[in-house]
Amino acid sequence: MSINELQLSNELEPCAKNASTADLKQRAAKAFEAVCGYPATTFVQAPGRVNLIGEHTDYNDGFVMPCAIDYKAVVACAKRDDGIVRLISVDYDNVQDSFDVNADITPTDDKLWANYMRGVVHFLKEKGYQVGGADIAITGNVPLGAGLSSSASLEVVTGQAMKALYDLTVKQSEIALIGQASEHNFAGCLCGIMDQMISACGEKGHALLLDCRSLKTKAVHIPDGVSIMIVNSNVPHSLVDGAYNALRHQCEEVARLLGKKALRDATLTELNASSIEKGSDIYKRAHHVISENERTVACADALMAGDLQKVGEHMYASHQSMRHDFEITVPEIDFIVEILSDVIGTQGGVRMTGGGFGGCCVALMPTTMIEQAKQAIETHYEVNTGIKESIYICTAQDGAGLI
Ligand code: GLA
Repeated sequence: MSINELQLSNELEPCAKNASTADLKQRAAKAFEAVCGYPATTFVQAPGRVNLIGEHTDYNDGFVMPCAIDYKAVVACAKRDDGIVRLISVDYDNVQDSFDVNADITPTDDKLWANYMRGVVHFLKEKGYQVGGADIAITGNVPLGAGLSSSASLEVVTGQAMKALYDLTVKQSEIALIGQASEHNFAGCLCGIMDQMISACGEKGHALLLDCRSLKTKAVHIPDGVSIMIVNSNVPHSLVDGAYNALRHQCEEVARLLGKKALRDATLTELNASSIEKGSDIYKRAHHVISENERTVACADALMAGDLQKVGEHMYASHQSMRHDFEITVPEIDFIVEILSDVIGTQGGVRMTGGGFGGCCVALMPTTMIEQAKQAIETHYEVNTGIKESIYICTAQDGAGLI
């Protein structure tokens, strides 16, 4: 999530949320041909993600458990032999950006969406991959500014497109790292690795337990008959990147005070035995991260065992920790969790998902409960907050690849 993304979302609407991959492919193909005057040769996709548990743990070298979702970025592309990369934003009136792959690639000031993509080409080159020119038309339906990783999907789909066009040997996890480098250096958000990793490496029907230090993943099957519901609070938020980066710096500071490489290496016992004042901001930040790591690993075990009640307990606890220790929830988000936890009870769980300060909640529950949960949100949310929610029912999808 980034300010760039938010600025875009305030101005323009992305293409239909319920568009299938085939619809998106056709849309990209049509626009490509209309603008370029010849048909695209190659089509790739990269999904957005929802994080089931493990928030603000990734940049602390910890654990996360996201899954890739049905909403994605789709690219139609073809090689060019003149070294020019032309980016066409299908959802925004085919607005274009172009740059020379053989020159120094830098961010632009006006087309902020293009920076995520420029950065990826820049870092592919920096890693020694032989990339050349390309025409790239991009469309997508990941909700913008919702904390569902539309920017990561843009980065990963760009890496995937270059991989396909130029037969690059780049691994999926390296595409993820390159996407993260782009976000840090071309978009100014010091994000962790979760979003890019799940977009690049997701597995259908599974969440991934990801160790953000080693980048090892473990696929965790989402039991049959269990559905993922995402409720977008549609709370307008601002200065997300600044707040995000500040939280990251607080976590790094407290790790340093504890004499640890990262908060991943600290325990609650060590935190409590330290001279860090209980109840201080940095104490609370560390308390969230350390306990969230434990919850994430335990939640993966519970999901693997099909124990939805335990999964739910960890999700509720995660939410409380984000609310009181990390202090990144807003009243509307807390309200969604309250409404849904009343419906779900011990049959699953719900929590805020993503970077915070608005965005979405994620709930896991028996599929048979979805209608009742939707109705509860539709009955209570707008009436009490004055904001209309958006609801997405998702299934775990494969990560980026050729279409
Ligand atoms: C954003 C970042 C991720 C992660 C989450 C919080 O989505 O891009 O790297 O830190 O926030 O868990």
